This record gives sequence, structure tokens and C-alpha cells, in this order.
Amino acid sequence: MERTFWYKDAVFYQIWPRSFKDGDGDGVGDLMGVYEKLDYIQSLNVDAIWFSPLYPSPNADYGYDVMDYMDISAEYGGMEAFRKVLQGAHERGMRVIMDLVVNHTSDEHPWFQASRRREEPYTDYYIWRKAKKDGTLPNNWDSMFEGKAWQYDELRKEYYLHLFAVKQPDLNMDNPLVREEVKKIMRFWLDMGVDGFREDVITFISKDKGLPNGSPLMPAAKGISHYANGPHVHEYLMEFRDVLDQYDCVTIGEAPLVTARRALEYTEGKRPELDMMIPFQCMEGDCFLTDYFPHRFSLRKLKWIWGHWQKTLRGRGWNFLYLENHDHPRIVSRYGSEEYRVESGKALAASYLFQQGTPIIYQGQEIGMTNIRLESIEDYEDVQTINHYHTFFTNRPEKDRMARIWRASRDSARTPMQWNDGPHAGFTTGEPWFHVNRNHAEINVAAEEGDPDSLLNFYREAVRLRRSLPVVRYGTFRQFELWSGKLFVYERRSKAQRLLVICSYTPEAVKFRAPKGYDLRKGKLILRSHGDDVENNGFVTRPYETRVYLFQDRRVPEV
Ligand code: NOJ
Repeated sequence: MERTFWYKDAVFYQIWPRSFKDGDGDGVGDLMGVYEKLDYIQSLNVDAIWFSPLYPSPNADYGYDVMDYMDISAEYGGMEAFRKVLQGAHERGMRVIMDLVVNHTSDEHPWFQASRRREEPYTDYYIWRKAKKDGTLPNNWDSMFEGKAWQYDELRKEYYLHLFAVKQPDLNMDNPLVREEVKKIMRFWLDMGVDGFREDVITFISKDKGLPNGSPLMPAAKGISHYANGPHVHEYLMEFRDVLDQYDCVTIGEAPLVTARRALEYTEGKRPELDMMIPFQCMEGDCFLTDYFPHRFSLRKLKWIWGHWQKTLRGRGWNFLYLENHDHPRIVSRYGSEEYRVESGKALAASYLFQQGTPIIYQGQEIGMTNIRLESIEDYEDVQTINHYHTFFTNRPEKDRMARIWRASRDSARTPMQWNDGPHAGFTTGEPWFHVNRNHAEINVAAEEGDPDSLLNFYREAVRLRRSLPVVRYGTFRQFELWSGKLFVYERRSKAQRLLVICSYTPEAVKFRAPKGYDLRKGKLILRSHGDDVENNGFVTRPYETRVYLFQDRRVPEV
């Protein structure tokens, strides 16, 4: 099938279904709730929705532990509700992509249960090993979520590998039957009309032969060099490409710790293995590798990362642009300022929405939801959060340990969506499954709908503008004020248009002067957070001020 590469003009919206909107009053978000909100999603001017997993799951990792790949969880309304949402989205001109979680399943998946009993053809569907002769574990690999990566199974009398939670056994992708299953799953959803997949930890699916020990120096992820970008990953992805090629669909690869160069290995060429990679590095503006090793936010570092990805992928791959998802705390609380929540939210939005690539907005990001700070670890739900609390920095006072959780927990992104200032933020008429952030009285969709200067309306306008400007798709990317730790200034340039984006990352007043070749009075200020005053071809910034100027050369027709 001829591909249209529709995703290059698209803006995505991510839904983490459990916390988006409850339609049946049981306290858990569901597809009936999503259906109610389709007009709202459309009002954001987005083109596509990515659903975090909707499959039946015991929820050890909230849907990333799948029990049945060809069904929709009854909690979310089952297949009937899904078909309705799919149709409703398509009718509104929005595409829908699913999360494809095939590095591992749930231990409650029938394949795993049969594999434990050595029932054919499932015996080798997972990675089973005996203990070493001295009785120790098959190797020294760590699980990302729970202790060591091996769990003993009493029934089979062997260990199975789990790179994530104990309840998430890794599939054996070297087994051709497993790869056939993946293809079957892909066809199933694509035939139903789904428009593509976000592929979970897809760079981990091929493990080094013999599963050798990892370097003991790698804290908390021993073994990673033996399964990240493993020996057959490219070959397996090309096998999957044969299926994908029969549909005009998109694939987004999730690849923890991926570098821009590495992303090219997956996304370059006429027939790439994957269309885009999630650029984890843009989450490292205030931490080393993971949110749990924080440092002070550094705009310079973030600017370097953004610039590096723009430059490396230009003309070769295609960027995926994000600031938030269900795996990271809220961006305003990290890179912005809770005190200047709306202003810093706007600066962040303009910082990434006009870069080259396909942006995604995570539910709640568009209204500037912030981190939650729960009193005790007992109040948290996420397996990673709980594990990190019990594993790292255990010798520190409780206060410090909780401060780290407040800063890094994924649960901050998983609190129910704040629709209004009523009970439970309008998320449910029942008892919500997880804590609603108390600040919903001020931060909610209804309040922002009515305010023309709200962050929500800024997002709508920014997305609308981005779609109307060909320079955003095709233009080159260049930064100014490169060494500034306070301003992020970039240009997008094509033959006929230039876009100058100026974002302040500080409440301080900073003197900005337009770069050489720019006369601000000749530009059109198409998006702004504050004023439009210009003096000496520049201005003094207000807290987290944002401006986007468009310069149009009327003599050159835009392509
Ligand atoms: C990445 C997903 O985004 C995350 O939520 C999940 O816990 C892990 N992969 C394991 O599936």
C-alpha cells in the first residue's frame, strides 16, 4: 500500500485511559468516558489519539501487563465501546493508535500459564532458565521494577526472565511462533481500522545469545547492554514491517535511553523499521538518565538535547516531540514553575510545538496539571514508585525519601483528569480509583475553557497555527542565544517563511534583542503570552514570556 506519511502533519493526544474520564461511575476511567469527550479532544485541533493499553490486564503495571491482545478490558467497556470510540474518532477526522506491548505479557496470560506447564506450542514462548550449578540465578540482570530479573516458578521448576515487574514475563522473540503472534495482533487491530502502534520497549525484544552477565557497574539496570538494541532487533522489526506495509499506518518506537544516532538506525530510509522513536533524552533536562537521579533543571542542557535531535534526524529520520507522558512527572512542576504555572506552561508548549517532528500532548498537560504530593508511600499505586522507594536511598530520612518520590513518581501523571471544580474534579460520579489532585478547584478544563488567556486556549491556538504553517513541517531549525540559561530562542526557516520562537524560562526580566537579520516590527506576532511591545528591536521579558513571530516573504510562493 502506498504510504501517505500522514503523521508528519499530525499532532497526537495521549490518553491514559484509567484516569481520563469515567463514563459508568465505577471510579475508573473508561471508553464510555472517552466517547463523551471526543468533541473536547477534537477541540484541541489534534489529529490522532494514542491509547495507553486498553487490553484485559490484572494491572500489575496498569495495562502494560497484557492478558489478551485481541480484546478490550471489560473495565474500559469491552470491544463494543472501543469500536464506538474508534468510529467516533474517525468521524471527527482523528486517527487512533494502540499500544503494542510485546516485549512481555502478564503472567496471567494463557500463553504463560501453558508455558509453565510445558504445553506445546507454548513451552518456548518465554525465556526460561535453570539455576546455575551453584544454585545462583541464571545471570546478574536487574529488573527495572522489582529486584532481580529472574523469578522461580514452582510448577516448571525453572526461572523466567522479567525485565520489568515479576508479573511481566519476557516473551522469547527468537521463537518464530512468537513473532507470528505479534503479526497476528498487528493485523487484527489494523484490519479493524486502527491507524498504527506505539511499540512498548521495542528495542528490548532481542536478547544476547547465552544471556551473559551485565557489567556490575551499571546501577539498577545490570544487563541492559545485553538486551537493549539486541542482535536480532532490526531483523525482527523488518519482519513486522512486512505486515505494516499493507496499511497506511504509523509506528512509534519506545526505546529507553535511546540516543539520536541510535534512533536513526531504526527510522532512517525509505522503508524504516519504525517511523519515529520516543526521544527519552528530552526528559533529562533535570536528571541523569532517569527521573530518580535528579539535578537542578538546566535549560542549557535541554536546549542542547533538542538541538541535537533536530540536527541529527533532519532529512534522515523524523522526530517525535513530547514533554509529558504517563511515565514522567508533570512538566510544569519540573521544567517550568508551579508559581508561574500558566506562563511557564505556555513557554514549554511553544518550545516544542514548533520544532520539526510530530508532537504529542499528554492528557492534562494542556491545562497545566501539576505533580501530586501524597503523604506516605502507602498512598502510591505505581509498581516502579513503590519499588524505588524501597530500593534506593533507604538510609536517608523519610522526609528526603518522600521528597524524591514527589519529584519523580509516575503517579503524578496518573491522577484523574481535572474536568471541573466539582466533586472528584468531574472525573467520576463514584469513588475515584486514585487521588485527585486537590488543586482541581483552580486547575480544571471548565475554568480554562472560559478564559481566553488560559493555557488550554494557548495550546489550541498553537496547534492550529502549527498546522497552518508549512515552515513547521519543512523548515530548517536554528537556535540563537545558545549559551543563555534563561531564554530558548529558535528559528524555523523555509524559502518563504521564517518563524522566530522566543521563550523565557525565568520569572526575571531579561533583555532580548532580535538576532541579526530580524526586524521584529516587520514580523507578525502570531502567538504570545503577554505583550507585544518592541523597543530597539527587542523587549524585556515578563515572567516566562513567550512570543512567536512570523516573517513572510510574499515574493516567494510557499511549497
Ligand atoms: C514503558 C511504558 O510506557 C511503561 O509505562 C511500562 O511500565 C514499561 N514500558 C513496561 O511495559
